[in-house]
Amino acid sequence: MKLLSKIPMTVLAALAATTVQAQDYPGGNPVVAVVPFAAGGPTDKVARDVTAIMSKHLKGQIVIENVGGAGGTIGAKKVAAARNDGHTVLIHHIGMSTAPALYRQLGFDPLKDFEMVGEIADVPMVLLGNKNLPPENFKELLPYIKANASKLFLANAGIGSASHLCGLLFMSAIGTQLGTVPYKGTAPALTDLIGGQVNLMCDQTTNVAGQLKAGVVKPYIAMQSSRIDAFKEIPAASEQGLPGIEVKIWHAMYAPKGTPPAVIEKLSAALQAAVQDPVFRAKMEELGAQAATADRAKPESLRKHLGNEIGKWTPIIRAAGVYAD
Ligand code: MLT
Repeated sequence: MKLLSKIPMTVLAALAATTVQAQDYPGGNPVVAVVPFAAGGPTDKVARDVTAIMSKHLKGQIVIENVGGAGGTIGAKKVAAARNDGHTVLIHHIGMSTAPALYRQLGFDPLKDFEMVGEIADVPMVLLGNKNLPPENFKELLPYIKANASKLFLANAGIGSASHLCGLLFMSAIGTQLGTVPYKGTAPALTDLIGGQVNLMCDQTTNVAGQLKAGVVKPYIAMQSSRIDAFKEIPAASEQGLPGIEVKIWHAMYAPKGTPPAVIEKLSAALQAAVQDPVFRAKMEELGAQAATADRAKPESLRKHLGNEIGKWTPIIRAAGVYAD
């Protein structure tokens, strides 16, 4: 008891308040989950599906706030600067690992300015064309792109987005540069692809599953070495003469630095329950995606994964000499 008498009352009171806050968390106030892309897109889809189930386990409401722009960095920066009381979290994807190499004035450090909550799901990507694009398959598409490169436009969701990264890898693999058109997310980009304002896009199956099934876009290749279970009819890049392309968009949840450990523990427990939930797992599989395992939905696993991914993508992006600012 002697030790307690040495700690100033103000510190004890603050500790007590934090403990009570964490015990009651989330209390009556909603948790805002910032999605750094436009509503209706693939990140938004994963976020709404996982938070709908997390809310039940957390015994509190989680609401989505879409903050698009600059490849997801505007929304991420907003959360880095938010109050660390557990009522603001970020749901983002592989862009958290590519931004440090792409943005020289990023304004936050993905590893230092966030507490890790855990991973959510992996989503594959497909290369899509407007329905009226003449090539009927990838074999026809390649010569068509080479002959019309100056007239073709590839949509993406801004530098650092998954669609931008996928487009970079595609253009590098075929040795041809296309014009690119950035959007605040691939939801608005898909509208323009269907409308013919842009010709091609690399997007996540969580965004285009419905349009693929309805046949309103033309799929050319799955951007990986094997076919996607839910879309077996789409050939894999490796089958079409593009070996070495393996694009998987991982998604995770973060909180502002300094969010109390007890709050992080509650968020991660709710996330672990959600990724194991049969309804969430089935929804992801139906969209060609895969929910993370409970082990990957833990803070220490995400910190390791994010560090590895930053280490992997930084030299690739530096070698491409691509910068956003
Ligand atoms: C989105 O949710 O709009 C996408 O994740 C954007 C992207 O990263 O391509």
